[in-house]
Amino acid sequence: MMTPKMEQALNDQINEELFSSYLYLAMAAYYNSLDLPGFSAWMRAQAKEEETHAMKLFDFIQERGGRPVLGAIAEPTREWGSPLAAFEAALAHEQHITSRIDGLVDLARAENDHATEFFLQWFVNEQVEEESTADSVVKRLRMMGESKNGLFMMDHNLGKRTA
Ligand code: FEO
Repeated sequence: MMTPKMEQALNDQINEELFSSYLYLAMAAYYNSLDLPGFSAWMRAQAKEEETHAMKLFDFIQERGGRPVLGAIAEPTREWGSPLAAFEAALAHEQHITSRIDGLVDLARAENDHATEFFLQWFVNEQVEEESTADSVVKRLRMMGESKNGLFMMDHNLGKRTA
């Protein structure tokens, strides 16, 4: 059994992950509106991945005898100033999620909940990858500056993402 405090915190994280999915879907729509189908497909795949993060938490709460409670999902931003600005927002969002996961680990330790602490290690590792991927796209976009050619090539490359 988890403590009610731990269960509530994991439930809050389900909402964070579903909001992440919503945010990336909004970014997919934004990139599509700019005729950047590769960026859009990448964000769409990312949105799907966030759903799987939410479901990992959903399943774990149930396995521990708790009950997932689904709250309202906030409306994400719709517009960004540029392809770079949207990816910078994605990176900032992942940094926010990392701090949330770190907070959950701290709570699991404080509650002496070893099973939850161990479960959360998957998310700790995942966040390293999430931040690093977004960071590398942001860096390449910054390097590229105003180059339309560079943007076209990057769109092509990002469109290769399958999952
Ligand atoms: Fe579920 Fe992108 O963190």
